Order: sequence, then structure tokens, then C-alpha cells
Amino acid sequence: PLVALIMAGGTGTRLYPASRSDRPKQFLSLLGDDSLLSQTVNRAGFADEIFVCTAETHADLVREHAPEAGVLVEPEPKDTGPALVYATHRIREQVGDCVLLCLPSDHYITGDFETTARRAALTAVETEGVVTVGIEPTRPATGYGYIEPGHDYGSYFDVSQFREKPDKSTAERFVDEGFYWNAGLFAWTPDAFLRAARDSSLEPLVSALEDGDPAPGFDAVSPTSVDYAVMERTDDAFVVPAAFEWDDLGSWDAFDRFDSSTNVVLGDALTIDATGNIVAGDKHVSLVGVDDLVVAAYDDRVLVVPKSEAQRVREVVTKLRDDD
Ligand code: GDD
Ligand code: MG
Repeated sequence: PLVALIMAGGTGTRLYPASRSDRPKQFLSLLGDDSLLSQTVNRAGFADEIFVCTAETHADLVREHAPEAGVLVEPEPKDTGPALVYATHRIREQVGDCVLLCLPSDHYITGDFETTARRAALTAVETEGVVTVGIEPTRPATGYGYIEPGHDYGSYFDVSQFREKPDKSTAERFVDEGFYWNAGLFAWTPDAFLRAARDSSLEPLVSALEDGDPAPGFDAVSPTSVDYAVMERTDDAFVVPAAFEWDDLGSWDAFDRFDSSTNVVLGDALTIDATGNIVAGDKHVSLVGVDDLVVAAYDDRVLVVPKSEAQRVREVVTKLRDDD
């Protein structure tokens, strides 16, 4: 069977203050009426079964937004590396032999998703490797993984190099050299992924799961994403180019790409002599004579940052957490 595994345990810090720890971005409906999570569930509708993996703190929200999916709650939130090892192992126990399609829940996708997703699943079976989906880059973004395609097998390529979140000048070089962006959308059989994870820093967790108790395994591994832990290291990776339109709604500046208006307004705003701003919030915001800012006002929180530094919102959340 084809099993969709949706990752929904992230905190979405760069979309603060719309995204907060009790309401992370996958549960928000910033574009369209449905939350990003329920859009993801709908998109995966062709799979035989759907699971969502998440942290204990988000489990109730997941059940609300994805009532048709099975919920797998990770013992500890330690980023996508441990989460995917745990969920893949659990699904192998529950479902048996299958192909997993691992889907992030923070993407905006239009066009024919199913063709690429099925091709990735087939490639995972054919290669017995770890398969990812590649997007043609349009700018030297530093928030994505980059994939250098190697040997061309027709509908997929060997991955000759994977680099997660490079710095700006490296990203520029990768774009020039024809690398793909990693869509963060993976396909694998449980055996293939657990084999690759065994060769990584996640090994103690794989062993603990095989011994029947995840707890010591979660204690033994540090938080790490699947990209750093597995994709950068494995020799058994393949990339399927995407045939759909894609964007990661990771940070506020992303909304610029959906809307060519003078200012992008999510909510209600008055702008006078102001251009290139992104204004979002649950209250009325006025901007006068300012350009290229992100202004986001939700609940009792207001964020103002130059659009070009939207990635730095992460620092706000870290600082607020440290001050707790
Ligand atoms: N279950 C679970 N547990 N899910 C998690 C956790 C966790 O601890 N942390 C994050 N997630 C979920 C998020 O909700 C999101 O849907 C997905 O996993 C990816 O996490 P992000 O934190 O959004 O990753 P990223 O955007 O920085 O980077 C990834 O995606 C990029 C494309 O969007 C990487 O795969 C990059 O290589 C890729 O380019
Ligand atoms: Mg993301």
C-alpha cells in the first residue's frame, strides 16, 4: 500500500506572531479557507492510508484538522529526524510492507501533485533508496536544502550531493550549477529509510525501536532534521523533479510571491504612500510612508521587520523563549 505520512509537529517560528506555540502555522488558514494541514490531507487523498505525526502538544489540533487520518504522537519533539524514524517504524508495525510518502504540512502547492508523488513512490520501490522531490530554484534561498543531480535515469536522478540550508554565496553557486531545491517531500519503504537512519546519528533511536522501547532512543539522540541527519549523509538518495507549482510558506516574505499588489495584505489595512509591505493581522493596521516592511499584529503581539530580514523572526521567538 501507499501510505501518506504528514509531518505536522513544527512550531513555525518564522511566522510569529500569527504562528504561536499553541497555534503553529500548519493549523492556520493564511491562504484559502482551509488550514495548511487540512489542505495537505486533501492533497494526499489518493493514498491508501494517511497518518499524521506530531508532538503531544499538537495532537488535539491534528485530530480536529485531520479527522480522517491516524495520529502518531512522538514521545519527544526533536525535529523531523527522530519523528520520521519513529513514525516509519510504527507504520511498518501497523501496516507492514508499504511505501511511505512523507509530506510537510507547510507548503502551498498547485497543479498536478499526484503524478510526481506517485512517481516518487515508484522510484522508492525501484531503487530501494531514499527518494526526495526536487524543485527548480528561482532564487538563492538560504532556507532550503539543495540537491545536485547525478546520473540521469530518465524519470529520476541519483543525488550526488545534498546540502541543507547553505549560506547565501553557496546558494548562489548551487543555483548557477543547476541544483534543485529539496521540496522536503520524501518517499521510501520503511526498510530503506531505517537502513539509512541506522548509518546516521539517529542510530540509537533505530536500535531502541527495534528493542521495543523508544524512550531510551529519544533520550540518546539530539534534535536534528532528516535533512541534516540522513539526506546529507546517505549514498542511497534519488531525486524526482516536481511537476507541480510549489512554495514553502516558511516566513512572512513568502506571501509576496502570491500577490503582486502594491502591498500584500492578509487581514485589514490602510496604506498611504507605502509600497512593498506585507501586512497581516487580526486587527486593522495603518502604514504611512514606509516601504518593504513586514508588519504582523495578532492578539497582543506586534512584529515589525524589514522584508529582507524576515528570516530573522526566528531570533525573536528564541529570545522570547529564553526570557520565559
Ligand atoms: N512530527 C514532527 N515533529 N514534525 C515536525 C517537527 C517535529 O519535531 N519539526 C518540524 N516538523 C514538520 C513541520 O511542521 C513541517 O511540516 C515539516 O516538518 C518540515 O519542517 P520545517 O521546520 O518547516 O523545515 P524547513 O522548511 O526548515 O526545511 C525543510 O523543508 C524545506 C522545503 O520546505 C527541509 O526539508 C529543506 O531541505 C527543504 O528545502
Ligand atoms: Mg518548512
